Amino acid sequence: MSHDAPNRTTLHVSLGQRSYPILIGGSLLSDPAIVVGHLSAPRVALVTNEKLYPLYGEALSGLLRRSGIQVLPICLPDGEQFKDWPALNQIFDALLEHACDRKTTLIALGGGVIGDITGFAAATYQRGVPFIQIPTTLLAQVDSSVGGKTAINHTRGKNMIGAFYQPLLVLADTDTLKSLPAREYRSGLAEVIKYGLALDAQFFDWLEANIDALNVRNPTALAYAIKRSCEIKAQVVAEDERETAKDGGRALLNLGHTFGHAVETALGYGVWLHGEAVGCGMVLAAQMSNQLGMLEASSLSRATELIKAAGLPIAMPSIATDVMLEYMGRDKKNEGGNIRLILPTEIGKSIVDATVSRARIGAFLDAAPAV
Ligand code: NAD
Ligand code: GLY
Repeated sequence: MSHDAPNRTTLHVSLGQRSYPILIGGSLLSDPAIVVGHLSAPRVALVTNEKLYPLYGEALSGLLRRSGIQVLPICLPDGEQFKDWPALNQIFDALLEHACDRKTTLIALGGGVIGDITGFAAATYQRGVPFIQIPTTLLAQVDSSVGGKTAINHTRGKNMIGAFYQPLLVLADTDTLKSLPAREYRSGLAEVIKYGLALDAQFFDWLEANIDALNVRNPTALAYAIKRSCEIKAQVVAEDERETAKDGGRALLNLGHTFGHAVETALGYGVWLHGEAVGCGMVLAAQMSNQLGMLEASSLSRATELIKAAGLPIAMPSIATDVMLEYMGRDKKNEGGNIRLILPTEIGKSIVDATVSRARIGAFLDAAPAV
């Protein structure tokens, strides 16, 4: 049992020897002892971006240095379009230039972009070094920092090059969300809604009742949404770390992503935010499921209304159907040439379906209204 301070929660991702805690709460970044307690040597590389270093990186570096830790800051350019080989190499160059050894811990301080690229660097530098996630966006606090998926993008597909590599610790300081721009905050809400729609009807009901409070970042509502999202993710990851379960398992967390990743890649990385593409992707998946006779109109309407109420897009941008199909055809979930869709079948339940033909998906996309 954990004994948390009143505004702190500790959850656990149970993966045998690779288990780790998720700490959620305010003021966590001002307590360097939490990070220091997870280091095997007094040396870290703090990977962040140009925007976040002055906001949070500088202060954290100072606190760690005063605790006797050698800190190498590595500042990457900011943006989804920089989740790529040159930025990854920038990390390797800095680590090698400063003769970082296998006990150097890589700390990812930032959103999902920094978390994913730093995690991949940690998985591969000298065949693997320790890694800590300090997520600073809502999306990263509820999703990308937990579960060990790390990757960079390829121009031909999202997250196509990567590894499963678990962190030692996830430290989600909710105070950092105060400086998050509104559009980025809404993008994070898409992944929160995903957990309810895909897996937890009760959480979906709670989200419907609390979306106004979440939209204004009410601290109590936000704390619950982050905690519940992380609880669901931790459980799914513990049961199906590498997304191999026959009954869907972790793949169900990709609800909205088959359409969404295609939208992000087709438009060019960073044009639509990841959460915006996922929000719209969930509506498309719900519409497709409804057309296939698997989702009631009332559930489609509830899903659409909640996504809309979170300020997320519910219609596709204008993209040619053959382009969408090409990117959807490269999705990592696909097997034997079939596109594997995640389809909601009721609020809080979803399935993996590989039986919908490309022709059927194409006809659906042709008829889908665009913004
Ligand atoms: P992001 O990392 O690009 O961050 C969004 C923007 O907010 C950036 O400009 C960033 O500099 C800024 N920012 C971050 N924290 C801030 C703060 N506290 N205050 C002010 N500005 C801040 O985007 P994201 O939405 O966090 O992550 C999206 C990425 O996550 C995508 O690449 C997606 O593929 C990935 N992802 C990965 C997983 C996974 O399981 N690994 C899951 C979901 C998404
Ligand atoms: N974001 C989906 C997953 O981590 O599996």
